[in-house]
Amino acid sequence: MTRGTRSEHRGAVPDDHVIVLFGATGDLARRKLLPGLFHLAKAGLLPDRYRIVGSAPAREALSDDAFRKRARESVAEFGRSGPEGKAWQRFEESLSFGSADPEDPEPLLAAVRDAEQAVGDGARRLFHLAVPPKAFASVIEMLGATGLADGARVIVEKPFGTDLPSARALNATIHAVFDESRIFRIDHFLGKESVDNILALRFANGLLEPVWNREHISHVQIDVPEKIGIEGRAQFFEGTGTFRDMIVTHLFQLMGFVAMEPPTALAAKRLRDEKEKVFQSMRPLDPAHVVRGQYDGYRGEPGVDPRSDTETFVALRVELDNWRWAGVPFYLRSGKSLAEGRHVVTLGFREPALRMFPTAPRHRYRTNELVIDFDDPGRIAARFLVKEPGPAMRLSEAEMVFSYAESFNTMYALEGYERLILDAMLGDQSLFTRSDGIERLWEVSTPLLENPPPVEPYAPGSWGPQSIGRLVAPYRWSLPDGR
Ligand code: BG6
Repeated sequence: MTRGTRSEHRGAVPDDHVIVLFGATGDLARRKLLPGLFHLAKAGLLPDRYRIVGSAPAREALSDDAFRKRARESVAEFGRSGPEGKAWQRFEESLSFGSADPEDPEPLLAAVRDAEQAVGDGARRLFHLAVPPKAFASVIEMLGATGLADGARVIVEKPFGTDLPSARALNATIHAVFDESRIFRIDHFLGKESVDNILALRFANGLLEPVWNREHISHVQIDVPEKIGIEGRAQFFEGTGTFRDMIVTHLFQLMGFVAMEPPTALAAKRLRDEKEKVFQSMRPLDPAHVVRGQYDGYRGEPGVDPRSDTETFVALRVELDNWRWAGVPFYLRSGKSLAEGRHVVTLGFREPALRMFPTAPRHRYRTNELVIDFDDPGRIAARFLVKEPGPAMRLSEAEMVFSYAESFNTMYALEGYERLILDAMLGDQSLFTRSDGIERLWEVSTPLLENPPPVEPYAPGSWGPQSIGRLVAPYRWSLPDGR
């Protein structure tokens, strides 16, 4: 099927496909992509006829059987259902391997030829580039030079560049081979069920949309603390840091959905136009409103420079210069080795005059907030004040909660990657990032990248460096929330 609106393609099954997975021997393929593809197959969401060709440089070449064995192990370890039964057998049979180096793409070409013959006429080609950023350009150029790119679509992993010049150069390299309509820059946060739900919550409810603006909202927080450390990824992390790994990617993208104007339709162009407008309205980041942190012990991790200045934590204030949000700070926080792993968007509403309630000092309560927890499967809570029963007018905190897990059968929900790979097969770019948006995000980040404040230490298991309290004053962080 061809590109349509999001609502049209629900439940649709894509055209027959040959999917080529670059980086098939890597960590992302093992943890997410192979188990995710199998989940799609099991859920009946892969096409009637498909083949999956794994690829990697010749030095990591595998036989078809060895690739199948690897896939079986990764599904057994990370999949939601085990590699068993008819579904697994069929999936396993669809797997093959073809190595590719820029100077020797022949094994891959042969594997793609065989796979396309097996699928038959009309098979679409989808490349998934799960490779380190330094390998992007050579793979793209090889796809162009061999003709493999003709008519194909490509999924590109983050990080997309490391600053504005590198993002521009990468866009130019890709655009020389693929036009924008065939490029799917993936950000797996945008595939999370609850991110779509932000659209539903905002635009399907007369209760909320009228108050979703500066008249009623005083501040917004997007908070993604992680409990995990760098998990042995020192080499990647040292060159990247939390700002590039999490903020300029996942958190800014999410902010685009929280802050956008209503799109005229739930179609890719309309949605992405509105999200890009949010990025256009961002003020350049002010390093004075950024806290960079590094957890105690990071410099002692294997592979980390003992004098490393890489941040494992960032909290910052973002300002949007538009009619809906002028004067409303957006506070973003993410970091490793923190107290809890959470994914939370909080909208803080303006307080009414509380004078008539003598026991209600401002900011004492954890209330007057809408809290969207987008951990899969997600929950939404409204926090407000009620009167305690009894003769005195005493206020107390209350919460109204909607929980996906308690309200729906979430068994068939898709994880971020699964959903986005399916969308790419369907040709729906709604939840993928666009070149102009990415470049704009690097542009507003330039003052910070050129002038980063020094890293401040924080204790593992805490919520970050002390100074983050000052960053959000007179408000406070909505986490920890005591759940
Ligand atoms: C990845 C980052 O993109 O997202 C990781 O590279 C991070 O550092 C991960 O841990 C978080 O994803 P999720 O879905 O587990 O919150």
